[in-house]
Amino acid sequence: MAGGFGGPTDGEEFEAKITPIVVISCILAASGGLMFGYDIGISGGVTSMPEFLREFFPVVYKRQQIPGLESNYCKYDNQGLQLFTSSLYIAALIATFFASYTTRVLGRKMSMFIAGIFFIIGTILNAAAQNLIMLIVGRLLLGCGVGFANQAVPLFLSEVAPTRIRGALNLLFQLMCTIGILVANLINYGTSRIKGGYGWRISLGLAGIPSLLLTFGALIVTDTPNSLIQRGKLEEGKAVLKRIRGVDNVDPEFLEIVEASRVAKEVKHPFRNLLKRRNRPQLVIAIWMQIFQQFTGINAIMFYAPVLFQTLGFKSDASLYSAVITGAVNVLVTVVSIYFVDRAGRRVLLLEAGVQMFLSQLVVAIIMGLKVKDHSNNLGHVLAIIVVVMVCSFVSSFAWSWGPLGWLIPSEMLPLEAHSAGQSVAVCTNMLFTFIIAQAFLSMFCNIKFGIFLFFTFWVFVMTTFVVVLVPETKGVPIEEMTERVRKQHWFWERYFEDKLKGKLHALNYLTSSYLDLKLRISSLIFERALKKCSPALLSWILFYLSCILFFFNLVYQFNCQSCL
Ligand code: BGC
Repeated sequence: MAGGFGGPTDGEEFEAKITPIVVISCILAASGGLMFGYDIGISGGVTSMPEFLREFFPVVYKRQQIPGLESNYCKYDNQGLQLFTSSLYIAALIATFFASYTTRVLGRKMSMFIAGIFFIIGTILNAAAQNLIMLIVGRLLLGCGVGFANQAVPLFLSEVAPTRIRGALNLLFQLMCTIGILVANLINYGTSRIKGGYGWRISLGLAGIPSLLLTFGALIVTDTPNSLIQRGKLEEGKAVLKRIRGVDNVDPEFLEIVEASRVAKEVKHPFRNLLKRRNRPQLVIAIWMQIFQQFTGINAIMFYAPVLFQTLGFKSDASLYSAVITGAVNVLVTVVSIYFVDRAGRRVLLLEAGVQMFLSQLVVAIIMGLKVKDHSNNLGHVLAIIVVVMVCSFVSSFAWSWGPLGWLIPSEMLPLEAHSAGQSVAVCTNMLFTFIIAQAFLSMFCNIKFGIFLFFTFWVFVMTTFVVVLVPETKGVPIEEMTERVRKQHWFWERYFEDKLKGKLHALNYLTSSYLDLKLRISSLIFERALKKCSPALLSWILFYLSCILFFFNLVYQFNCQSCL
């Protein structure tokens, strides 16, 4: 997932059966992931329903009713409307900090219960909303639920599941997330046909089902043996381990958990560890994988597909229907990715997807640029179908690459001494950039029009280059060999392993040895200097700040632009 990460997935195989409690865990994973996906998918469809707009965003509603009043690209450009979608992610970001504390100190079970309660109250507020404040507060509470669920559920799963199905459960969370998005699309399609103007309330209210499932599920299950042992409840932890494994001899696994918990307690400053030079490669990769995942533009589609299709001139029905098609492609291809991830290798999938995403978005940009003008739209039937096919092609390539791998690669790369801290940083970065995309997309669409897809193709190019140059293959690499593979054997990251001087000399040798003439030696020296000055961490921060500045400029522009409000 989205949070589809527990601890490292390798480990010794212990005696274990698939017991009912493990099955219940799967149902829990389903409801946590389903809830996250449902919240992603539901807002775009609701946003495109006229009754919803009339009630909460009359300005936007007016634009839909009077043709030609506003540019095709700007019909939905409204900060409040975007806040309805984005507020969830900023709340999730903040909640993640508290969730990592409660998950550690109060246990996974309690954290899942807290998530469920947030989800229930948020859902009630949303479904019963009488004004914008209720709507936004509801979304903020749902966001808190997402923050807690995304922290606790994957961890719970990875600790309860026997080793042999741990990896699959990791990806199951991402799969459930995509199913949640599809279910939301289908429900929007159904409720948009309800006469009486309350269809959107049903869309928002049906989130109650996975919320209740998660809450009651959290009440039924016991906490994980790892959590109990970490909190000093050794006997209880052992009893639970026996129960969930369905065997009497759990001593080897019990001893391993006790040892792991002792080692974990010795890690006094995980964040400080994470910032150590030796962990810089993993930190840089973890952060950039999240930023890039969002800058593929996937959530422009997941959040706003119905709005986008309406801009292209589709009727309300056809837009919601097309969103269902893209949602279905997302689910199907995610299933396929579960099969391929461990066979094809991470880099191959990321590189193929890079090319496919680039071309798909480029075609959409060209068609829109040629056919969809501010006040006219000549997109015929054939071109409309091509656009939907291209969007599906983009979504499918995301679903077998940056979707699952954006989470999996950082999770399997992070060293144990900084694993929890690294995961929190990854989740927070993802939530921050999800928020930025949700809050900025419709305004950027209004301002740079079809160019928004060129903006994403630019990022796809950058991230694919990043993969080529800086992401090592981690397929089939056991956790204990990860450091060796990531740092020692990588042409660039190896400098973070050897001491500073040796690292520099080695990198220089590496660069120069492949060039024969003096000229190329000099240019490699310059390149080396530039790389040294522009460390990836520094580059990360520069690009991060540039993105934020871009975003805030856009906000300022929006608030000053009379015709936009
Ligand atoms: C991403 C979400 C995205 C989803 C789409 C996840 O991996 O984190 O932001 O909406 O994939 O399937």
